[in-house]
Amino acid sequence: MIAVVNQKGGVGKTSVCLHTAGVLAETGLRVLLIDMDEQGNLSSVFVDDPNSLEYSINDLLDDEPEVDPDEVIQQTRFENIDILPANITLSNVAERLAGIDDAQFFLLEAIQDVQKSYDTVLIDCPPSLSRATRMAMVAADGVLIPIECQEWAFSGSNKVLRLVNQVRKRVNQDLEVIGFVINKYNPRRALEQDYNKALRQQYGDQIFRTEFRNNVEYTEAATLRMPISFYKPASEQADAFRMFVKELF
Ligand SMILES: Nc1ncnc2c1ncn2[C@@H]1O[C@H](COP(=O)(O)OP(=O)(O)OP(=O)(O)O)[C@@H](O)[C@H]1O
Ligand SMILES: [Mg+2]
Repeated sequence: MIAVVNQKGGVGKTSVCLHTAGVLAETGLRVLLIDMDEQGNLSSVFVDDPNSLEYSINDLLDDEPEVDPDEVIQQTRFENIDILPANITLSNVAERLAGIDDAQFFLLEAIQDVQKSYDTVLIDCPPSLSRATRMAMVAADGVLIPIECQEWAFSGSNKVLRLVNQVRKRVNQDLEVIGFVINKYNPRRALEQDYNKALRQQYGDQIFRTEFRNNVEYTEAATLRMPISFYKPASEQADAFRMFVKELF
């Protein structure tokens, strides 16, 4: 189970979840996507109107949830991809669970049984190191961090690593940092090249060799509500995700 985390917005967490799921699905692996972001961006790809759903992930995040995960999981029009959708109801999760220490375990408890039906679970986190992200880290075995080649990447990454260490020390000893994956890379910009080198120097083989270029086809695919490997199966962009998945597993 992999949590895709970065408190910076727009770095590509949702995109990485979507396109990685597509590659896994095309190779016949069963994937469960979990949307932990109240924006519901990932859910919107697979569900017509996430805000009108009867149940969403929010209903499972409770000491004694009133619904069963099976009632919340949505099959999608893509074989091998299911999703636990999120919507705006998740926005008050921090308030709702304030003061409940055990709340950090609620996602883990909710999916403990259902996860066995899948080869991989990918959790799309919100752009913050909030309650929802912590729940994802408590449930996950690994953390994957999409980054852009920018100044901010260093300080932001360190914040994520600090939270990983905290969760590891207190709650989930087995949580590992799977690595950083560079997204939206434009190699024609000298500054980005410099940051790319600097990041690779600092984090070494914690950074995936595969990089995702800044390319409009990723956005087109998401807008047309498809993983890139279904939208443009023969493209370089789809191949990049195939290479990434080979590195990942
Ligand atoms: N490699 C890429 N090239 C071009 N556009 C990209 C790439 N990756 C993602 N995008 C686009 O950038 C925008 C932000 O990406 P995405 O929503 O995946 O980021 P995010 O980290 O999930 O954002 P948030 O923090 O708001 O959840 C989207 O419009 C997406 O289609
Ligand atoms: Mg997102």
